[in-house]
Amino acid sequence: MLRVTTSSAGGTAQLGVALAECLRVGDVIGVRGELGAGKTVFIRGACEALGVEGRVTSPTFTIGHRYLADPDVAHLDLYRFESMSPGEWADIEPLFVDSIAFVEWPDVGAEYLPAPRAVVNLRHVDPERREIEITTADQQLERSLAAAMGDASSAA
Ligand SMILES: Nc1ncnc2c1ncn2[C@@H]1O[C@H](COP(=O)(O)OP(=O)(O)OP(=O)(O)O)[C@@H](O)[C@H]1O
Ligand SMILES: [Mg+2]
Repeated sequence: MLRVTTSSAGGTAQLGVALAECLRVGDVIGVRGELGAGKTVFIRGACEALGVEGRVTSPTFTIGHRYLADPDVAHLDLYRFESMSPGEWADIEPLFVDSIAFVEWPDVGAEYLPAPRAVVNLRHVDPERREIEITTADQQLERSLAAAMGDASSAA
C-alpha cells in the first residue's frame, strides 16, 4: 500500500497522473472517499494523462461516461445506487469493455464489477490536505507506481 498526503487539488490530480502512467487496457480502479474528498479531482488528472480531451466532470447524475482515447477511459459514479440489479449491471457493463475504468463509490457494485487492479482511498485531513492510499495486490503495479510517484514529486 502506498500512502501520500497532498496539499492541493493539483497535487491530488498529479497522483492521478502517476497512476495513469502505470495502467493498461482492462484495468479497473476503485476510488473511495467521502463527499468532496477529491475522487473526481484524482480521476480528472488520470483521464487527462490518458489522453482524454475536454472536460472531465463528475458523472453523479449519469452513472457513467466513456471518453474516447487510446484506450478509451470510463468514469463511473455509483453513489446513487443502494444496490445493483443484474439489469443495471447489464446497462453499465459495456463501459468496462476495451477501456480503463475508474469507479467512484465502487463497493455497491462489487458483486458485478471486474476485480479492481487498485483501489484508491481519499480522506480529508483539512480543507486543503488529503491523505491518499493506493492499495493493490499487484506488486509490479505497486513498484511502477512508487517510481512514477517519485518522478512526480521530484518534478514538482
Ligand atoms: N488536496 C486536495 N485534493 C483534492 N481536492 C482538494 C484538495 N484540496 C482542496 N480540494 C478541493 O476539494 C474538492 C474535491 O472535489 P471532488 O469533486 O473531486 O470530490 P469527490 O470526492 O469526487 O466528491 P463527490 O463524492 O461529491 O463526487 C474540490 O473542490 C477541490 O478543489
Ligand atoms: Mg466525484
